[in-house]
Amino acid sequence: MNSSKSPCVLLTGGAGYVGSHTIIPLIESGYEVVVLDNLSNACKGDEGQKPVPITKVEEIVGKQVTFYNVDLLDYNSVAQIFDKHDISCVIHFAGLKAVGESCVIPLTYYRVNVSGSINLFEIMKAHNVKKLVFSSSSTVYGEPKFLPITESHSVGQNLLNGYAKSKYYIEGILQDLCNSDKEWNVIILRYFNPVGAHPSGQLGEDPTGIPNNLMPFVAQVAVGNRPCLKVFGNDYDTIDGTGVRDYLHIMDLADGHVSAVKKIETNSVNGAVAINLGTGNGFSVLQVIETFSQVSGRKIPYEIVGRRQGDCASSYCDASLAKSFLGWEAKKTLKEMCEDTWKWQSMYPKGFSTAK
Ligand code: UFG
Repeated sequence: MNSSKSPCVLLTGGAGYVGSHTIIPLIESGYEVVVLDNLSNACKGDEGQKPVPITKVEEIVGKQVTFYNVDLLDYNSVAQIFDKHDISCVIHFAGLKAVGESCVIPLTYYRVNVSGSINLFEIMKAHNVKKLVFSSSSTVYGEPKFLPITESHSVGQNLLNGYAKSKYYIEGILQDLCNSDKEWNVIILRYFNPVGAHPSGQLGEDPTGIPNNLMPFVAQVAVGNRPCLKVFGNDYDTIDGTGVRDYLHIMDLADGHVSAVKKIETNSVNGAVAINLGTGNGFSVLQVIETFSQVSGRKIPYEIVGRRQGDCASSYCDASLAKSFLGWEAKKTLKEMCEDTWKWQSMYPKGFSTAK
């Protein structure tokens, strides 16, 4: 970095799974980091302490991280953070993300995700901070019409849940905002399936309750927390009949954010650009189970059950725009994803509550 003062990056939702892992390469790349999180889905620390994931990050990087327990819906408190810090760029992770829950309490999802985002963008505008990386999802593509999915694939069609729609709506708001004011530089990152943990095993994904997603469920079966994995369907048109996804190591994903921030900091994005973050490779549920079983040395009992509503057969991306535009590509293999997940799960069998 050329300037004497490091740019300051604000992470909303920075105590969550993707946010907390992203702090590490940001600090290692020389950025100042400020984290805001309302801790609705993160492990709180003891009285007066920072949340556990933030403490773990501080141990890994050997540096203090500025943290605010603030909700994006609390306009004044968020604005005060912008008054206090010379924020250059924002990475907006904060939001609710459980697909099933979003069908039960859609209004809550729209209030938190959409209204929270509007608050943030208004505060950014008021403080003349117009550089943003937004955490979106491949879910905005709906059922893939072709594979691999490129960024020019249609978005917003036949979205089955409020979570997917909330991401799609926020992307639309950002497009409108950028059309209205050319000073904005926005990168929308459409994640495929982030999995894994920091290679130290000290930081990982800690879902509350029963995991919705495959990898944390497999890890919990391997460690003995759950007896058996349900495989949702083996009659898809895929290599072995089970669903195929583009799994991406969380540290590769974290690096993708650093690449996006570096690009944004050059002020050369001009508008809102959507970019896929994935490996470009698909693996089936049975391939994930097999690889996890090999690296952990544990048997992973599973049973085949019916398809899960809303699932598609295959989803994997064309990741070439990330390479040409951001200079980023995923490096880690499925084996490394499973190894690091296993390291974290076996060190912290009950997640962060074991770490307190
Ligand atoms: N699966 C099982 N058993 C389980 C969980 C999942 O067989 O217990 C299967 C699913 O059917 C699917 C694959 O494993 O074939 C991956 O499922 P995940 O739930 O891990 O991931 P999804 O691709 O369904 O969804 C993920 C995120 C969503 C996001 C979506 C697209 O969970 O938040 O990717 O970005 F919207």
